[in-house]
Amino acid sequence: MTNKLKTTALHYHDINPEISEFLSMATEYREMMMRYECALLEIKTKLEVLNNEISVRYRRNPIDFIKSRIKTPQSILKKMKRQGIDVTVENVEKHINDIAGVRVICSFIDDIYEIARMLSCQDDITVIKVKDYIKNPKPNGYRSYHMIVEVPVFFSDSKTPMKVEIQIRTIAMDFWASEEHDLKYKNENADMHEIEKELLECANDINKIDLRMQHIRDKVYKNL
Ligand code: GTP
Ligand code: MG
Repeated sequence: MTNKLKTTALHYHDINPEISEFLSMATEYREMMMRYECALLEIKTKLEVLNNEISVRYRRNPIDFIKSRIKTPQSILKKMKRQGIDVTVENVEKHINDIAGVRVICSFIDDIYEIARMLSCQDDITVIKVKDYIKNPKPNGYRSYHMIVEVPVFFSDSKTPMKVEIQIRTIAMDFWASEEHDLKYKNENADMHEIEKELLECANDINKIDLRMQHIRDKVYKNL
């Protein structure tokens, strides 16, 4: 640190301890986000390794693509306020499970369960929670397989278990979920009841197609 910066930091602390506390919380927050970014890397690598192995052994890719995101500070704050949790860096790690999120998109329903099973079996992965919205779709028609897992991340001086939310779904389920999410907030004047009804019908049609495609694939593979 240059002398000028040192003086500025000391000066802030002398005149305003609140600014100094804020700056130290900002550093803590940045470090925490870096830890979650690293956890995302770990999970994405594990998924890519599984996909590569299966593509060489069985000449097919169970995973079409992977998306990932870190939750924005705005949505972290909104969620904590909604849940009545004090906003501290410690509480974010303790109470919010979806700071790091990975979405895995597969072509076939069976691949979703296969990927989930292979990941859960790995001895450095701890499965914290599973929600199977494929076997038990939400009343609005939402389907997807959700897992909260903990993965250890090795840093220069420590090993830290980090939570990651993994959503695994077919291309068709992903298309539906993205559209449902967008359409819900698009037009306040629209007849929401009618739109929800149509979305539910689409979700059920999409499920029928997913099941038919799975059935076709099963027949092809049986005859190989
Ligand atoms: P949060 O929704 O994150 O507060 O947690 P939760 O404990 O209710 O988790 P859940 O596993 O039910 O959902 C987590 C995530 O799944 C959401 O943040 C969305 O990304 C997705 N999701 C859940 N339900 C729906 C839905 O009805 N429509 C869409 N488009 N996405 C959904
Ligand atoms: Mg969420």
